[in-house]
Amino acid sequence: MRFDVITLFPEQFRILSEEGVVARALKRGIADLVTWNPRGFATDAQHTVDDRPYGGGPGMVMKVEPLRAAIDAAKSAAAATGCESRVAYLSPQGRPLGQADMRRIAATSGWILLAGRYEGVDERLIESRVDEEWSIGDYVLSGGELAAMVVMDAVIRLLPGALGHADSALQDSHGDGLLDCPHYTRPEVIDGRAVPAVLLSGDHAAIERWRRQQALGRTWERRPDMLRARGLDAADWALLDEYKRGRDGPDTAQAAEQEP
Ligand SMILES: C[S@@+](CC[C@H](N)C(=O)[O-])C[C@H]1O[C@@H](n2cnc3c(N)ncnc32)[C@H](O)[C@@H]1O
Repeated sequence: MRFDVITLFPEQFRILSEEGVVARALKRGIADLVTWNPRGFATDAQHTVDDRPYGGGPGMVMKVEPLRAAIDAAKSAAAATGCESRVAYLSPQGRPLGQADMRRIAATSGWILLAGRYEGVDERLIESRVDEEWSIGDYVLSGGELAAMVVMDAVIRLLPGALGHADSALQDSHGDGLLDCPHYTRPEVIDGRAVPAVLLSGDHAAIERWRRQQALGRTWERRPDMLRARGLDAADWALLDEYKRGRDGPDTAQAAEQEP
């Protein structure tokens, strides 16, 4: 899979190739990252990439011409390697991304990610070159670079071979529409808190059942909206009911009966 990123700050993306899962995936060729600086596509002596907004007001707007030329160059370079890239603009006005979107993005061979700056980009560039607009949350960043890196991290770890265990992405929160179960490592007891006995039992079926029940219970407690959206089969309902019954206090048990 290939990412071409249109950015005024290509240096920021170096961090992705320095350490961790994404760096390893890039080194192994599981994913490729190419950055394109629109400043290099500006035709005037000052390499101007922004200008004042029509109608007045604060801030600057990214100009069409350098962005358009950078996107077109990225598209041609990606096509030469067999990638029919789609163009996504990172924007607080875009569609909020969830894990299902990350899976869909990972299933496409190439993406050109446009990182905005200032007040954003001239609307005519979006109309003529952008296929999708993506938001990483309902808040405003000062630039699209961090948003592009968030997407790339979330997507690249889903690619075959990127994680040590093929199914670990599935067990992560949101992989199966549930939150992950709690995790423990050595020592067995710390500050008077012991690891749940079942995890020391060696009984793999019991451990799997406990983990599933914890994932269901956590999702019910923290994100009942996810349970409602996902739905549960009879076996999962039974596990969740048992989890609810095991919780402390009659009030919570009563509330549990009514949700989700
Ligand atoms: C200061 S913001 C511009 C915000 C714009 N004036 C608006 O209110 O929609 C500059 C750039 O940061 C990026 N950005 C900001 N917040 C974002 C978010 N939540 N998700 C994705 N990109 C974001 C976009 O690329 C945007 O062009």
